[in-house]
Amino acid sequence: MSIPIYTYDAVIVGAGLAGCAAARELQKAGKKVAVITKLHPLRSHSGAAQGGVNAAFSDEDSIELHEFDTVKGSDYLADQDAVAFMCEKAPETIRWAERMGAAFSRTPDGRIAQRPFGGQSSPRACYAKDRTGLTLLQTIYEQAHRAGVKFWDEWYAADLIYKDGKVSGIVAFNIRDMQTVIFNAKSVMFATGGYARCFKINSNAHANTGDGLSIVARHGLPLEDMEFVQFHPSGLSGNGVLISEAARGEGGKLINSEGERFMEKYAPNAMELASRDVVSRAILNEIREGRGVGPRKDAVYIDVTHLGKDLIMERLPELRDLAITFLGLDMIKEPILISATAHYSMGGIPVNIAGNVRKNNDELIEGFYAAGECSCVSVHGANRLGANSVLEALLFGRFVGKTMVEEIDNITLRPATQEDAKVALDEIDFILNNNGDETVTGLRDELQTCMTENAGAFRTKELLEIAVEKVKELRQRFKNIRVKDKSKLFNTELQEAIEFGHMLDYSAFIVESAIARNESRGAHYREDFNTRDDENFLKHTMAYMDKNGDISLDYMDVTLGKHELKARTY
Ligand code: FUM
Repeated sequence: MSIPIYTYDAVIVGAGLAGCAAARELQKAGKKVAVITKLHPLRSHSGAAQGGVNAAFSDEDSIELHEFDTVKGSDYLADQDAVAFMCEKAPETIRWAERMGAAFSRTPDGRIAQRPFGGQSSPRACYAKDRTGLTLLQTIYEQAHRAGVKFWDEWYAADLIYKDGKVSGIVAFNIRDMQTVIFNAKSVMFATGGYARCFKINSNAHANTGDGLSIVARHGLPLEDMEFVQFHPSGLSGNGVLISEAARGEGGKLINSEGERFMEKYAPNAMELASRDVVSRAILNEIREGRGVGPRKDAVYIDVTHLGKDLIMERLPELRDLAITFLGLDMIKEPILISATAHYSMGGIPVNIAGNVRKNNDELIEGFYAAGECSCVSVHGANRLGANSVLEALLFGRFVGKTMVEEIDNITLRPATQEDAKVALDEIDFILNNNGDETVTGLRDELQTCMTENAGAFRTKELLEIAVEKVKELRQRFKNIRVKDKSKLFNTELQEAIEFGHMLDYSAFIVESAIARNESRGAHYREDFNTRDDENFLKHTMAYMDKNGDISLDYMDVTLGKHELKARTY
């Protein structure tokens, strides 16, 4: 039976902030655009962002300070031209979102309220209580929908059609009944989100399985800076669900088992509002040295009781609900238990500022774009500052949409053929019909445990060697997979197997990139090389996977600028 081929001007994979913002630009410009999403758009992980979105608005703040904080926060690995673009466009991006209907929290005199976040010189995070991402996602989705964007909800993008250095669409299947379709298009954008689900304790949605990255890598294209995975300081103890940095921004204190406000030792000036990498390592160090709290002694307290009920209910209601639901603790009355949780992916599909995907250090791929967490532009370098990711997704999503509009008329549609679906169909066929004795849940548990233990917030060569070998072993064992559900109706077991294949591939990129970076920079902390080494490692990792699944590494220069390299202290 032949596979239907649907033709669009542009196809976007992912319906979070970046995907919706780009789609709206294309639709408004009269282009025929389809958004393919494995979820309902409002379930996209952008909606889980809680605490804020940065823009230098206030009299005490400036674009220059936003740039400086971001570059310093990145441990100087961010590309300064991209950072300058983002910071300059941030205020107009917030006004644009506001005009479209985003209901930000307000100051008593009616201005958009801003709260302090880590690593900021001035309170800069605009917020909507502690539901900022959800507020923005609802707004941008609604406006994209209103403009007439066609959303393909619960469709799974299985492959990119990429031949002779050119893209011509994607292959996707309907999660409901496995109907496979080729979406033939002049241009394709990936906005597929992050990859922290390969860690056991993480703040990510179940959907964050890094599909887009592995699909790209399987075509021999590079992934950039994959070793840099952010551990957010405050995930609920035991499950990693996010307790926003807003809790510390509003004045929350971190306390160990001795009753000490321990950040005094690690970041005497910024305290709880040092950058996330610094605070996460401080928490984990307290726990490692025996000053943890809770039944397993694997947490520390965050205490916001001094803020009072009114402020908590006004600004942090979601956080309070989460702690009550998952831990049975009411933050109005008592401290709650948190620890570091894998949260954000600084690395991803390499793109230039306009969103064009890089084929290598020197060449771009015509008609292929990426934005948001799956991409690496790189505005976050080795460590992202809180509230810069919502900004990145919204801002670059919108501007990459504009780039696509500008470039699309110069791109010739390359007609797709049935053959283009072969890899995706073979993969589905393999998973449905392979009759081995390994299960996805078993292998995934081993992967997540291994990544947390050996490639987490503290790394060494020895630990990473264990991780490299384990990931190799799991990739072999994956060939011996078996799914019980052989049906074609909402076969989530099949989907999870495909997603797990992606997790294995990008995990190989994380550990291979990490073991080669013999320095400590931002979120990549090597106890055996515990300082930053600008002489040898002020460069982006560009990693490639060959047909056998082996990873090779190259490097790309960092774009430096006016913010000079300095030791990073908080
Ligand atoms: O802590 C938070 O609210 C998370 C925000 C972010 O990752 O930017």
